[in-house]
Amino acid sequence: MNKEMALQNDERSKNLLCSQTHIWNHIFSFIKSMSLKCAIELQIPDIIDRHGSPMLLSELVEALPIDQQRTQYVYRLMRILVHCGFFVKQGEGYLLAPASRLLLKEDSLSHRPLLLAMLDPIFLDPWQHMTKWFQNEDVTPFHLTHGKGLWDVLGQEPRLGQLFNEAMANDARLIIGIVLERCGRVFEGLDSIVDVGGGTGTAAKAIAKTFPNVSCICFDVPHVVNGLVGSKNLSYVGGDMFGVLPNANAILLKWILHDWNDEECTKILKNCKEAIQSKENGGKLVIIDMVMKVDEGVDELVESQLFFDMLMMTCITGRERTEKDWAKLFIDGGFSDYRITLVLGSRSVIEVYP
Ligand SMILES: C[S@@+](CC[C@H](N)C(=O)[O-])C[C@H]1O[C@@H](n2cnc3c(N)ncnc32)[C@H](O)[C@@H]1O
Repeated sequence: MNKEMALQNDERSKNLLCSQTHIWNHIFSFIKSMSLKCAIELQIPDIIDRHGSPMLLSELVEALPIDQQRTQYVYRLMRILVHCGFFVKQGEGYLLAPASRLLLKEDSLSHRPLLLAMLDPIFLDPWQHMTKWFQNEDVTPFHLTHGKGLWDVLGQEPRLGQLFNEAMANDARLIIGIVLERCGRVFEGLDSIVDVGGGTGTAAKAIAKTFPNVSCICFDVPHVVNGLVGSKNLSYVGGDMFGVLPNANAILLKWILHDWNDEECTKILKNCKEAIQSKENGGKLVIIDMVMKVDEGVDELVESQLFFDMLMMTCITGRERTEKDWAKLFIDGGFSDYRITLVLGSRSVIEVYP
């Protein structure tokens, strides 16, 4: 073989091996989520946090409700989670990496409920039916798998419904905290606001507390808000966002429109327009959702936007939208103008005016 051919073969082998690794890492990327799920179920972050200093493997195994003979398996579970950035090694001991703080059971911003809900078989099974769904008429792979939509299942499965509501509440706490701190003017000068699809009211409570003169309503389906008690300037109303909405100066739609397709969103937006009186009275929508930036965004943020878009396609009828998609939706919903006012990681605050 001459030198040039040898070089070409060398390059070809390198490319083949590179492609193989790329494929392997995608085939097995579920192992990252499942290993993390196992660590959360075993409460490993909480145990390491309570320990307060680098925790040796032997100490960790002793604190876990498992047999000592499992030590080498715990070592291997911890090794991949160190690789994934959830724990760090200091000497021979394990410490929490910053992301694990958001997985602690008692943390008010904990993503533990989101992880346990999204990796529950009820949410995972539809992914096995995606191909079949492409070839039939079902609304979503979730419908195809469970015979009904996500919101009905959440209403009928109290365990999953509660996890989902907790996941939303913790996200709302994180996001609304940042919005109030960095962009509180969005809510200034309002008399009233309705948080449509506001879940158990975390965002509405934070707004009501920061602006005692604004009267706030958390509006959601009856099984989510029934029995919840409001305060002086916060009340709960059960209803359907496709029906009539309570009147107010402004409407908050956090993580709502990405749940629905364009037709459904247009209906929701028209209902919102009926409910807010006019632009002169400060009337506007405050939307917190993703504005997709697939071609120009930061890699990790783009990936999470793409993940959410696929999640919306598989579990509900929604989608993530580019700025162009949003602009068209606002016109179809009867609004005349919008402004993207704050970027929050992969999501943004969008003010929309009649
Ligand atoms: C993705 S969650 C967002 C919750 C909350 N806005 C947040 O971001 O924390 C969607 C919410 O919409 C509510 N929802 C679904 N269908 C609804 C309907 N037809 N009318 C009112 N609320 C609805 C769900 O119960 C759920 O609380």
